[in-house]
Amino acid sequence: MELSSFKGRIMGSSLAFWCPLLHLLLLVLVMCAQGIAGRKLTEEQLETTHKLMKPMDQKIQAHHSSSHMDHMDPSHMIFFTIKDLKVGKTMPVYFPKRDPSKSPRLLPRSQADSIPFSSKQLPHLLEFFSFSKDSHQAKAMEDTIGQCEIEPIKGETKFCPTSLESMLDFTRSMLGPNTRFTAVATAHLTNSTTLFQNYTILKEPKEIFAPKMVACHSMPYPYAVFYCHSQQSVNKVYKVELGGEDGDRVDAVAVCHLDTSDWSPDHASFSVLRIKPGTSPVCHFFPADNLVWVPTSTSV
Ligand SMILES: *[C@@H]1O[C@H](CO)[C@@H](O)[C@H](O)[C@H]1NC(C)=O
Ligand SMILES: *[C@@H]1O[C@H](CO)[C@@H](O)[C@H](O)[C@H]1NC(C)=O
Repeated sequence: MELSSFKGRIMGSSLAFWCPLLHLLLLVLVMCAQGIAGRKLTEEQLETTHKLMKPMDQKIQAHHSSSHMDHMDPSHMIFFTIKDLKVGKTMPVYFPKRDPSKSPRLLPRSQADSIPFSSKQLPHLLEFFSFSKDSHQAKAMEDTIGQCEIEPIKGETKFCPTSLESMLDFTRSMLGPNTRFTAVATAHLTNSTTLFQNYTILKEPKEIFAPKMVACHSMPYPYAVFYCHSQQSVNKVYKVELGGEDGDRVDAVAVCHLDTSDWSPDHASFSVLRIKPGTSPVCHFFPADNLVWVPTSTSV
């Protein structure tokens, strides 16, 4: 495989990938895991941020210095408790808003697999993408690869797919070979540019059938890379209709982790919610570029 043949195309869209205000255009496959039949493509606009990725996972959290957790970063304002999930509840929430034309490209597996993805290869990769080793881009690539190489915590399985095909393979291996599954994601219904504001829950939140789930967070990288993970502990997934103070409307996807007793006390959610590990379920909204894979409700 000639790397240089598609290098130009990747680079064209990647020059700003480290910027936290980026979009990702992604084909979401609604697929039948039993195989070939029943495959349907829907196109969704998805957004990406790396800042939001970090509070999602305690292992990643632990990897970072806890000092920046001490003050309230607005991008951590995605957490709430399960008691907040009711009509009329108002809470401050951070949702990144970005320009979809600048999203990192999702590569076909054949191309993605021909590019190494490992910290040992970082110098070679920086050369390949023509980033100096002191650049923001180099730092972002190093961070992303580093987060992908951290061992999962107890009860967690993680994988960083670099193509849609490998994301689907991982999801199938987590949800079971005979389970049909689909992706749900937060959708922005208006063009509000406010990143952080109070939102009110407009309708009774709907629980999404999800005895098992795989959450995939987009990562900053010159092409689309996701951090996907699945936990054994019990989670509940919800669709929540939110209305912002400025008229913004968001069909948000949220997850509630019912057991947080294995989480690091440094996890950002505990300082935001002022609770201790294991004392209460912790919920959070997903930014629009994240994909949450769940079985379809007709799965057996
Ligand atoms: C948002 O803006 C785009 C482009 O300006 C427009 O096509 C689209 O209809 C707008 N959407 C809403 C919900 O206003
Ligand atoms: C949300 O509303 C509260 C109460 O009115 C206000 O104090 C707070 O500043 C608002 N937060 C944001 C992010 O606008």
